[in-house]
Amino acid sequence: PPRENFYEAVGGSATFTRLVDVFYEGVADDPVLRPMYPEADLGPAAERLRMFLEQYWGGPRTYSEQRGHPRLRMRHAPFTIGPAERDAWLLHMRKAVDSLELAPELDAILWDYLERAAHFMVNSAQ
Ligand code: HEM
Repeated sequence: PPRENFYEAVGGSATFTRLVDVFYEGVADDPVLRPMYPEADLGPAAERLRMFLEQYWGGPRTYSEQRGHPRLRMRHAPFTIGPAERDAWLLHMRKAVDSLELAPELDAILWDYLERAAHFMVNSAQ
């Protein structure tokens, strides 16, 4: 039988929905990150992040159906992302991952990816 993918192993859509909900609760109150978001409503941004992460880990491909190729570094180019922004992003993401209470090996795989991706998104020395 086909091996269960990571998306399924961590609990599917419910898990990614919780992850981005907890993450954006943190962003909503963050003095560094909140002003970076162009829209007053963070809901659509949360939805885009959820769809991207679900697709990345082997879930539905809705992100690319709606948004095309991710090209995440290009999509972040309009925003100044230095060490402070990256660290704030990772702080809220760490809390969000903790809230999932995943098995340690699954937590480690997810966190390793998120940490690398956040470093890759830095586009400013500021
Ligand atoms: C979009 C900030 C890292 C995935 C955005 C937006 C901002 C932002 C301000 C625009 C909100 C929107 O309208 O969607 C940041 C900051 C980061 C960071 C400060 C710090 C390092 C990441 C990482 C990922 C990611 C590591 C993926 C693992 C996304 C996605 C979108 C997005 C999928 C929506 C792209 C689109 O389809 O338009 N981010 N981001 N971001 N971010 Fe980040």
